[in-house]
Amino acid sequence: MKGIILAGGAGSRLHPVTRAVSKQLLPVYDKPMIYYPLSILMIGGIRDILIISTPSDLPQFRRLLGDGSELGIRLSYAAQPQPNGIAEAFLIGADHVGTDNVALVLGDNIFHGPGFPAQLRRSIAELDGCVLFGYPVRDPSRYGVGEADEKGRLISIEEKPAQPRSNRAITGLYLYDNEVLNIARRIRPSARGELEITDVNRAYLERGTATLIDLGRGFAWLDTGTHDSLIEAGQYVQVLEHRQGIRIACVEEVALSMGYISADDCYTLGAKLGNSRYGEYVMTIARAAGATA
Ligand code: DAU
Repeated sequence: MKGIILAGGAGSRLHPVTRAVSKQLLPVYDKPMIYYPLSILMIGGIRDILIISTPSDLPQFRRLLGDGSELGIRLSYAAQPQPNGIAEAFLIGADHVGTDNVALVLGDNIFHGPGFPAQLRRSIAELDGCVLFGYPVRDPSRYGVGEADEKGRLISIEEKPAQPRSNRAITGLYLYDNEVLNIARRIRPSARGELEITDVNRAYLERGTATLIDLGRGFAWLDTGTHDSLIEAGQYVQVLEHRQGIRIACVEEVALSMGYISADDCYTLGAKLGNSRYGEYVMTIARAAGATA
């Protein structure tokens, strides 16, 4: 399966913070926001990933992550000149996807919860059509909203409905078979001028091949869309990391635990991060995994 991280857009809800810096590069506590969705794809076993952003922001993503070889993955980059909609990722990324299945994740979505890696890998292995992940929220009108039957089959989906039929927000992680390329080519811009991901998902619903998995209680799907929610996301990560002595979405640790890099490689990456606490953590886990340095 191929991966795409969509990390463009104007970030206008966070202005002036995002006037000069891409939203997806802002810190969420101790690491750039894009580390969170990147680590989700890596945990899913996806190692060939396209990062899409604006022409002006792409160089910064490249500077941060390079070609991915240090993490034992392959990263490539493509520009989205205008925010023409999330589904445009499949037009821009068609060559990257080729004849494979694809996982799309929005560069500002943060997922954290027990059991999620296993759930994700299972969904990827069993993929037939599309898989969406639903999360109960207090304010569903701000999101894509879905409903599923008792078997988990998607039975309705609407984008930002005034009268939501459920409290299940559709999160920004989507798994598709290769048919998504044809579907994305066929959809037309919505009233707000965007190629809507919800229209892609509705096409799968109509074919009867859309599954909605509930992330449910105890899971964290964090919002980063406003100044307050961005701070709250950072505080969530800080509290867990302080309390447990672990790091969430530490891409070096994920690469090590997935067997993408050796303990020695991991140690070298930690040492390169200077004397930051993050770098110390990377060196510590590398030593625990047998790094000889
Ligand atoms: O976060 C989940 C929600 O994301 C879903 O529930 C909705 O169904 C989906 O439409 C989307 O809603 P948003 O209102 O959050 O979409 P927004 O326009 O804010 O875009 C989400 C992210 O994708 C944002 O970080 C910017 C990026 N983006 C968006 C568009 C439209 C792009 O990179 N390019 C684009 O053309």
